[in-house]
Amino acid sequence: MKMKLLQSLLLVLIASQSLALNCTIPTIIRGAWFSWENKNTLTELDATTMTDKGTCVDIRDNFHVNYTMVLHRQNENCFICVKILVRTVNILEKMESPCITLPDNTEPTVERVCQSLDPHQQLITLFSENYVPVNCRSSLEGVWNFAYQNRFKFTGECRNPDAQIRSCQTAGSQFLITNQKFNITYKKCEGMTGTFDGVVEYSCLGDWFVGKNHYFAVANTKESRKDEKYRCFLKNRDDDLYIGVSITAQCNTLKTVEKSPERLRVTPVKSEVVEPGCRLPQNFSGEWINTANIDADVFINETHIIETYYPDEGRYRRTIYVCKEQKDTRYMLARLTVDGCQKDYICFDFVPQHHNLIRYRKGIAVIKDDFSTVCSWVQFQNKVQWRYDLFLKKNPVPIKCPVAGKFNFTQKGDIPFETRILGGVTLSPRPNVYCKENISDFSVCDDEQKEVAIDENYCLSVDHKGKPVDIYSDPDYKMKCIGFWKENIKSYLITYDELDPFSKYRCWVYQRADLNRVLMSQAIGPFCDLKQNVFSWNYTEGATVAIDMEEYERERDQCPMYFDDGSNPYLDPETQVIQFNFGYFKSSSTRLENLLALTLVGFFVNLL
Ligand SMILES: *[C@@H]1O[C@H](CO)[C@@H](O)[C@H](O)[C@H]1NC(C)=O
Ligand SMILES: *[C@@H]1O[C@H](CO)[C@@H](O)[C@H](O)[C@H]1NC(C)=O
Ligand SMILES: *[C@@H]1O[C@H](CO)[C@@H](O)[C@H](O)[C@H]1NC(C)=O
Ligand SMILES: *[C@@H]1O[C@H](CO)[C@@H](O)[C@H](O)[C@H]1NC(C)=O
Ligand SMILES: *[C@@H]1O[C@H](CO)[C@@H](O)[C@H](O)[C@H]1NC(C)=O
Ligand SMILES: *[C@@H]1O[C@H](CO)[C@@H](O)[C@H](O)[C@H]1NC(C)=O
Ligand SMILES: *[C@@H]1O[C@H](CO)[C@@H](O)[C@H](O)[C@H]1NC(C)=O
Ligand SMILES: *[C@@H]1O[C@H](CO)[C@@H](O)[C@H](O)[C@H]1NC(C)=O
Repeated sequence: MKMKLLQSLLLVLIASQSLALNCTIPTIIRGAWFSWENKNTLTELDATTMTDKGTCVDIRDNFHVNYTMVLHRQNENCFICVKILVRTVNILEKMESPCITLPDNTEPTVERVCQSLDPHQQLITLFSENYVPVNCRSSLEGVWNFAYQNRFKFTGECRNPDAQIRSCQTAGSQFLITNQKFNITYKKCEGMTGTFDGVVEYSCLGDWFVGKNHYFAVANTKESRKDEKYRCFLKNRDDDLYIGVSITAQCNTLKTVEKSPERLRVTPVKSEVVEPGCRLPQNFSGEWINTANIDADVFINETHIIETYYPDEGRYRRTIYVCKEQKDTRYMLARLTVDGCQKDYICFDFVPQHHNLIRYRKGIAVIKDDFSTVCSWVQFQNKVQWRYDLFLKKNPVPIKCPVAGKFNFTQKGDIPFETRILGGVTLSPRPNVYCKENISDFSVCDDEQKEVAIDENYCLSVDHKGKPVDIYSDPDYKMKCIGFWKENIKSYLITYDELDPFSKYRCWVYQRADLNRVLMSQAIGPFCDLKQNVFSWNYTEGATVAIDMEEYERERDQCPMYFDDGSNPYLDPETQVIQFNFGYFKSSSTRLENLLALTLVGFFVNLL
């Protein structure tokens, strides 16, 4: 008897030990959730338990998107595997296994228990009881007329020209925070019972993709019965004619748009045509990229600016601006949103175009069609520090670099320049010559001085007379200069390197520090952070590397030094000779120039 008791005690001990596994349910799936599982079901998840399922004993996290857990149901001493897919902050989907008992002394791990999970079962949708409405833009945006079918209520299709779906951003306010609801206006059809007149307003709960199926979930704002409150919608990327709607709080009844319980056949309402009222400068026309959003294509002709953005494969968003009115550098443009929604107005302040770039400022969108309101200077957010935004030419034409010549440099940076083989072609081994010195070389020495070549480890060799000779050495980096200017007393340069895997376009800050010394800092991407200066070398100031360059071997090569601080980017560099413009150190430069002039005068006086 005593023996038996001890034995069972031991067993309990072992069992409880094996159950002391480490499992914390992540915050994102905690909370109260509603689902329809042939009856109204409320599921609560806290740090360790799930209603009706038991205590969590093991969990696997798959990219914070899928969670697979093993739960222990104490009273039956069995284990359930539950897989939870996080769809949006408001929507989870789950699948679960039957409750299985394990032989004694086996650990209830995910790997073991979840073998009994049927991966092909129907997913059950869980709607958050305390949902946070999200923007509808990614779910549904536009205005449509629709005809509808409901297989469970009536036969045939109810067609009424006044039936309308309306999902628009509220114009004039900051985008991305306003449009969290949309309306469906149903209209009755004569002789069809089950059709009705009424406006249903839905809050958006978020959207997700399963293959080509685009699901989004909503909550009816005027409905208090839970099973009637939540609905699921389905669109398909390849089919913009139909939208499927569930008639229960479930998404698994929507397999295809065609076979949905309720099906809306939609026709977009065309936007009104906006006649252009002004013309953009001719030299804006072409294809550009927006440095504030490098995934966007910008097309400009004399009347339109069309920005197309690709949030993911197969989807795009387009914003169309039409020129309405112009005064000095300010252009009021009408912004057409998606079909049917109301347009608004926005002011652009452009700097005359130069090199391969357009610099601009954009005001706040307003709903009024009035130049003095839209383009009033107060519409431009007056931050203490600001800078023009940039459009860069998609196929830039190289220009003469503002910094040219042959320099050696030292560098400091998060991502320094390093020795590599451009394009992956193996170099012939270095000729066996004696290197007088190894330096890092920055050269802009092609015929027209339009390309920067950087060689991190460059061998300066000497011939038998001890004179330096250039030996064959391929640069590690090659980038073309495509634009430069001066703004806020800093000189900026944009370079273009087709092979740069991170960003083809790079912004630089540069400055002349001495007669033959130049400092430069390269940015991470196509725009320079406001904080970036020539000494910036790390990500906190948006930079990758700072270089300190000094001209060398000047008298022996055919690569003259050139420097332009960018204060007049409209000058044609071809017609310029080497200029003694010291940029930052202008005051000292004038003094030097005076000195030079004086010496020259003295020289002539002497001659006479
Ligand atoms: C559970 O895991 C967390 C972090 O993964 C750790 O900090 C904690 O000490 C563990 N608890 C137990 C009881 O093992
Ligand atoms: C999450 O689970 C679903 C369904 O089992 C699967 O299709 C998807 O690839 C998983 N996602 C990740 C990131 O593992
Ligand atoms: C939906 O329609 C109602 C009544 O017509 C209106 O008060 C509400 O503002 C509309 N909501 C949206 C998001 O358009
Ligand atoms: C500019 O492009 C838009 C859209 O492609 C087109 O409708 C318009 O006629 C074009 N304007 C000019 C002046 O070519
Ligand atoms: C573009 O045109 C404007 C005037 O329309 C002019 O000021 C500017 O210099 C031109 N830019 C180029 C690169 O030709
Ligand atoms: C460039 O080379 C010269 C001579 O070799 C050296 O004195 C100088 O420190 C170098 N400058 C930089 C910036 O590396
Ligand atoms: C220069 O670098 C090469 C290899 O990159 C090395 O063999 C050589 O010794 C170096 N020369 C000097 C002077 O540092
Ligand atoms: C980044 O550079 C700045 C100065 O350029 C320096 O003050 C700061 O400590 C650096 N930050 C890091 C994380 O290295």
